[in-house]
Amino acid sequence: MTEKELIKEAIEARKRTYSPYSHFGVGAAILLKDGTVIKGTNIENVSYGLSLCAERNAMFSLISQGYDYKDIVMMAVVGDTDKPISPCGACRQVLAEFLKPDTKIILANLKGDFKITNLEELLPYTFTEIENV
Ligand code: THU
Repeated sequence: MTEKELIKEAIEARKRTYSPYSHFGVGAAILLKDGTVIKGTNIENVSYGLSLCAERNAMFSLISQGYDYKDIVMMAVVGDTDKPISPCGACRQVLAEFLKPDTKIILANLKGDFKITNLEELLPYTFTEIENV
């Protein structure tokens, strides 16, 4: 599967958004080695802080369904932004738990712009281990 095809999967995921408060839908799609695609979208709550981003929903869904995060090939995220969407800090930290620093992350918008990046760029000097425990 190509980067562009995975963006299409993220666009499909975005259609499932539950975002009545921000009206800002986000879609994420994670490709595994065997071709499986796991999708996630943002789900909001009337108690705003309980809302969860598309990226974390996709990743937590992958783990919950019994897939192995070590099989992840790449991930795509899409939003209706002017430039390719930029994941929030909380999602970057959660992704750092499961993605390798050089795993491809494709950031996209609905106009066809996209940027290929990774956690090395998105979250340098990452907190990855608890010492002295
Ligand atoms: N959101 C995501 O799902 N992913 C991002 O990368 C940025 C923000 C969601 C959270 C909230 O539901 C809405 O977009 C507006 O912030």
